[in-house]
Amino acid sequence: MVDAPVSTHNPSKDGDANDAQVNPEQKAQMEQAYQQMRRKMRMAQLAEGVRHKFMVLSGKGGVGKSTVATGLALALARMGLKVGLLDIDITGPNVPKMLGIEGTQLHVEDGQIYPAIGPHGVKVISMAFLLEDPDKPVIWRGPIKLGAIQQFIGDVAWGELDHLIIDFPPGTSDEPLTVTQSLPDMDGVVIVTTPQDVALLDSRKSINFAKTINLPVLGVVENMRGYSLSGTARDSNGKPLGKVSIDVSGPSGQVIEAVTSDDGEWTVNLDLFKSGGGEEAAAEMDVPFLGSLPFDPGFVRGGDDGVHRIVSDPEGVAAAAFETIVTRLIDTLESDDDEGVTII
Ligand SMILES: Nc1ncnc2c1ncn2[C@@H]1O[C@H](COP(=O)(O)OP(=O)(O)OP(=O)(O)O)[C@@H](O)[C@H]1O
Ligand SMILES: [Mg+2]
Repeated sequence: MVDAPVSTHNPSKDGDANDAQVNPEQKAQMEQAYQQMRRKMRMAQLAEGVRHKFMVLSGKGGVGKSTVATGLALALARMGLKVGLLDIDITGPNVPKMLGIEGTQLHVEDGQIYPAIGPHGVKVISMAFLLEDPDKPVIWRGPIKLGAIQQFIGDVAWGELDHLIIDFPPGTSDEPLTVTQSLPDMDGVVIVTTPQDVALLDSRKSINFAKTINLPVLGVVENMRGYSLSGTARDSNGKPLGKVSIDVSGPSGQVIEAVTSDDGEWTVNLDLFKSGGGEEAAAEMDVPFLGSLPFDPGFVRGGDDGVHRIVSDPEGVAAAAFETIVTRLIDTLESDDDEGVTII
């Protein structure tokens, strides 16, 4: 329960005697103040009803934040946990598309917005649901945008949740700051990076940003680490070979050596950018490394078709990678629970 001394008295339903003395401007102000109070009350309730809240950030755009945020949500929900996903990207919200729930009409009751329900029961709120035309860019300048985010957070009826994940637009620090101020008891941030130096440089900035606003870095996810190729080595009659060493031709004539399994199957990993950079950056900055995700064209197809990789291939490499990542993430969150909030 909320212990702030908040009155539930609604000035708009005030008696006639008072109405006579209140001019319309004052009435509007009172109404606004009342709305704000109710919103604050809901935010406090939200802080209590949600066990863990964390943000997914990256310094650089397009590194896979939304792919990771949706993947984390689905992987946690697959474990039977109650998960909410808040897409704060006002200018380019794409979470609903990735989860195949685009165009959902949100239910609004008693001034509260009820989230859409995605795969595995993930509750989703995105600006995309509020836009008339999702293809038309929204241009909201600073304070209006941040005000909308605050309002947005305070008006959602999430119910009880184990995890609330917040996906952000790239770059700017205004939105994470607003969310941190609006939502007390944030557990921390998950940082997504790709392995190139330029992305790593930006992810170091994100780590420092989290430190500046006193939020723990729950870990780094390295996205698009390598590309797996696999096949079966066969003899001229098409019969699988036994254990042999083979050369696989990679891009630009690069030759990669592979050793097949007893039934001729082979897998090689191509480093598209380079690999391990995210892990190195995490170690260097003394923050946990949560794991890596391979480059997988299925993510792109999934993003377009609205069937996330975890949903289309629940036993695949990407789903397994997400399972490892969320297991480590839960470990970090639970150890923080034991120790109280860790400020790095
Ligand atoms: N591991 C991956 N393998 C292949 N494609 C991927 C992978 N991760 C993300 N992508 C693709 O890269 C593109 C960008 O991903 P995504 O939208 O998740 O990035 P973002 O960081 O949220 O972008 P923005 O900064 O614009 O919000 C998408 O088309 C997505 O499908
Ligand atoms: Mg995104």
